[in-house]
Amino acid sequence: MSEGQAENWKVEEARSYHEATKHTYVSVRMPGRGLDWANRPYPFKVYLDAKKVALPSEFGSPSSDLPSALSSPRNSGRKVDLRSLAELLFYSAGITRVYRYPFGERYYFRAYPSTGALYQTEVYVVVADVSGLGPGVYHFDPGEFALSLIREGDYRANLSELTGDEEVKGCDLALVLTSIAWRNAWKYGPRSYRHWFWDGGTLFANVLALAGALGLRHEVLMGFVDEGLNLLLGIDGWKEAAIAVVPVWSGGASRARERLPLNEVSLRVLPLSRREVEYEEVLRAYRASRLSDASEVSRWRELASSMGPLRVEVEGERFKMPGPPAGTRLPPLGEVILRRGSTRRFARLPIEGWKLGFVLRTMYSPLRADFLEGAGSTVTSFLIVNAVEGLRPGSYVYDAPRDELVLLKEGNFRRVAEYLCLEQELGGDASATLFLMAPLEKVLASLGNRGYRAAQFEAGVRAGLAYLAAYSVGIGATGLTFYDEDVKAFFEPFSAEMENMLVVALGVPAYRPKPGSVHVGVVRHPTG
Ligand SMILES: Cc1cc2nc3c(=O)[nH]c(=O)nc-3n(C[C@H](O)[C@H](O)[C@H](O)COP(=O)(O)O)c2cc1C
Repeated sequence: MSEGQAENWKVEEARSYHEATKHTYVSVRMPGRGLDWANRPYPFKVYLDAKKVALPSEFGSPSSDLPSALSSPRNSGRKVDLRSLAELLFYSAGITRVYRYPFGERYYFRAYPSTGALYQTEVYVVVADVSGLGPGVYHFDPGEFALSLIREGDYRANLSELTGDEEVKGCDLALVLTSIAWRNAWKYGPRSYRHWFWDGGTLFANVLALAGALGLRHEVLMGFVDEGLNLLLGIDGWKEAAIAVVPVWSGGASRARERLPLNEVSLRVLPLSRREVEYEEVLRAYRASRLSDASEVSRWRELASSMGPLRVEVEGERFKMPGPPAGTRLPPLGEVILRRGSTRRFARLPIEGWKLGFVLRTMYSPLRADFLEGAGSTVTSFLIVNAVEGLRPGSYVYDAPRDELVLLKEGNFRRVAEYLCLEQELGGDASATLFLMAPLEKVLASLGNRGYRAAQFEAGVRAGLAYLAAYSVGIGATGLTFYDEDVKAFFEPFSAEMENMLVVALGVPAYRPKPGSVHVGVVRHPTG
């Protein structure tokens, strides 16, 4: 067993990271680091001397509704061209809102929700067969709406080897999501490692909907050789690291033949800020979850497929939420993504039961993910229901395979929900607050420290789908952070063995949110 192999199975690393980064009533009141605004990281990665390819500013808008996008037939046979790549990238990670603050500063909000609007997730594209674009490895810059060329050539055979997935050789392109540690750690310190996966997950939720809308089959791979993939992208696996690979197939692409040699990439990049701080906890948790070679990846994947379902069996009164009323028409996905934003205040009004049902069903759409082949899902939704038609206020758990809510405890828990969500009013004012929990020890036992990445990522994906579903049916949503141990304690005994991954609150916004719009090429980066 190589050193790396041993490392992933020392699961006390993930366990102790998780324990050390729990929020408590006391921890959030400790004298804080305070935010050093003058040292705020720049929210875009800028290559100073790479060759740039402008993406077309005219591209389509995904016109299918969310359920059709999530279930549409794959492999349309229509090859990806530059315009459909622009559509995929814009609606997954493009700029949908620009806020101008006093003193002229601008803030750019994106198509997906991200903790603290810090956007540490970067998107790379390994392109082989996209008409209008030479084969290569590119970095997507949502600000200039351009691709920076990192390497020229068809690297799908390399990617196929690094992910242990033969099929990758025939993909049209693969997106690789990475995380830039300092950009989120600036505000969140050690807890930011969780955010790598939450925000990567919400971004991926958009990608998976877009791929469906464009008639592209996709999957998400969290098993890969870390060092090799970081080298392919030209990143150091220290300040920035790969977290997920998403190949997409039209069915019409050629097949890669051979691996290309990988030399070091030495492109200059704009510094993020004057000074960067490294958090030992983040580095340790990341490093302990690396997979060192192709055989470790394939072994990891085998273990994933034998993980088995992780269901929570609970006895209790069961409720089936109705489907949408006859004649309900849902807006096109493009409109939903532009409207999406995190609700800043909820009106404490009830939502219709079918809307909660729609959100839950959408969240639990089957995911094509390498770590879920056996389990189906690592994440169970526990709920505090405050105001949902057809349900008595109380705590519930969602039995996803049966599509039923099980009543755990009846009562008015608005104040509790607010408290659990780090005393944020949003948690208590929502119509329903969802606590996405995973049986962490079981996941770690099957997947090692890498399972920690996977469970946090899956929670992010389910949360991203919840946002899209909520905005499809005209209600609001927001992700929320939480007091870890108090959430567990509230749902006991049903939450035994569970750890909370993240929270999503759903409800009626207390204001009329303004929709976003398409902003491409709106940022002029500093030049160094
Ligand atoms: C996983 C996750 C957790 C979040 N936690 C909080 C939170 O605790 N409090 C809050 O006000 N907003 C929270 N947000 C919302 C972000 O602040 C918001 O996504 C970001 O500011 C970007 O704005 P937008 O979602 O409106 O585009 C969270 C978002 C995500 C994805």
